[in-house]
Amino acid sequence: MTESIIPIHEIVQERYGALAESGNCCATGDSCAADGSCCQPVQLYGDDILQALPASVTNLSLGCGDPVTIAALQPGEWVLDLGSGGGIDCFLAAQRVGETGYVIGIDMTPAMLNKATENRVKMGVTNVEFRRGQIEQMPVVSDSIDVIMSNCVINLSPDKSAVFAEAFRVLKPGGRISLSDIVTEGEFSAELRADAAKWASCVTGAIPVDQYTGLMRAAGFTDIQVIDKADAKNIVEHQAGMPRIYSARITARKP
Ligand SMILES: C[S@@+](CC[C@H](N)C(=O)[O-])C[C@H]1O[C@@H](n2cnc3c(N)ncnc32)[C@H](O)[C@@H]1O
Repeated sequence: MTESIIPIHEIVQERYGALAESGNCCATGDSCAADGSCCQPVQLYGDDILQALPASVTNLSLGCGDPVTIAALQPGEWVLDLGSGGGIDCFLAAQRVGETGYVIGIDMTPAMLNKATENRVKMGVTNVEFRRGQIEQMPVVSDSIDVIMSNCVINLSPDKSAVFAEAFRVLKPGGRISLSDIVTEGEFSAELRADAAKWASCVTGAIPVDQYTGLMRAAGFTDIQVIDKADAKNIVEHQAGMPRIYSARITARKP
């Protein structure tokens, strides 16, 4: 499952650095979704949720679902967002956990961290922190987090086993994980997996959902559930020679 980490990380960082600098999820010259880009024209969150956030946050929403709502966050919880981007899910989580809770966003792309931090300062939010790091090696203390969430990021990782092992390490016993991510039914050819641009657009780094949940199980997670897999919105158009690619909501628990 480990692929050449350095080139993939570099290419992913280049793409999301450019998006962060543009401040707009549709500014890479890609069509919004037809190429499988992470940038979606579909609305991922309810109007009431979006109205509470400034445009500098909502314009840089690059996810493929809403992991915050399924996380059912409680006041006082400590939350970790893997690949926090411009910070949209961190800010939503911060409202739910309140002043007694805390939210940490990890991202490896400096321009994204700068945008997220600017947004945090502009909004005057005090219970969110953004840290630079890779999700394969998280800068987070073991057994310290109540809830991990992530939105359209783990598919981009060249070492998904390491991500799940790290997620398991940092969660408190009984902690939960709430993911929105791109998965497939069937495999990409080796040739497509080697297409770095498609990988960075959240397409060919995606793996079959059974393999995905298998890696979670191998890391120690239990109660793994794939929510509305069958009728999940097909946010990536089907392309000839590719398996079905779709957004799934996946939840699990550390025993
Ligand atoms: C598709 S965007 C999603 C951003 C955010 N979750 C959202 O919903 O708007 C992917 C983000 O994950 C970050 N990322 C991708 N791979 C990463 C890795 N291995 N370690 C840390 N961050 C990563 C990118 O820099 C980018 O900000």
